[in-house]
Amino acid sequence: MRILIESDAAAAAKCCAELISDLVREKPDAVLGLATGGTPVQCYHQLIRMHQEEGLSFRQIRSFNLDEYVGIAPDDENSYRHFMNQQLFQHIDIDIANTSVPNGMTDDLQAAGLEYEAQIADAGGIDLQLLGIGRDGHIAFNEPGSSLASRTRVKTLTDETLRDNARFFASVQEVPTTALTMGVGTILDARHCVLLATGAGKADAIRDAIEGPITSQVTASALQLHPKATFVLDADAAGLLKRRSYYDRAR
Ligand code: F6R
Repeated sequence: MRILIESDAAAAAKCCAELISDLVREKPDAVLGLATGGTPVQCYHQLIRMHQEEGLSFRQIRSFNLDEYVGIAPDDENSYRHFMNQQLFQHIDIDIANTSVPNGMTDDLQAAGLEYEAQIADAGGIDLQLLGIGRDGHIAFNEPGSSLASRTRVKTLTDETLRDNARFFASVQEVPTTALTMGVGTILDARHCVLLATGAGKADAIRDAIEGPITSQVTASALQLHPKATFVLDADAAGLLKRRSYYDRAR
């Protein structure tokens, strides 16, 4: 595992965007796994800036998002599809037909999960998966107790996640209680996993994910099993790491 600790959230976002842009330059038809939520927004701003100012092209890029709420239509402003279009896709030259978000609107969610897995496999697998982390240690919507071998399927969100995500909705009652999400096993299949975390609110989850035991109670801890996992943190998110000086020396 590489642990990259930056001074603040802006520097962490830049570092994360550079990991992504290095891959896009090296492999213009790379397959990216993308995340939503508050954390990646600054990273997406950096990618947009690189596209506008440095000619970084996403023309041949294929992308798969981690998750989507069940029962929220793609054109709903609370959907993760809408988020991705607004925060990234409409500002870069990616072909929107090459961007995928799980389909949370179908009657057969199990089939939709299997189909998503098949699409990822058909694309040749994910080269780089961008991840955030929940305060309960989740990656994608793999809440505590999710199997570390899980594949794309429906998960029920915890009360903590519902409360955390209520900031994007009019009230907590409006947050969908289930999501179609890549599994931990799906994420671990990516050739490189990059987890970005910022802010003191993530410090407990980051400590548990990096220095705690591998456990389904903290699904991000499964990244300890991955041959190429990179954590990009700001100083606040790294605040509870015991071996910080070693990580700084080893980077
Ligand atoms: C989003 C996702 C979630 C978020 C996590 C952190 O696609 O899969 O795991 O990354 O809930 O969310 P923020 O960044 O809003 O704190």
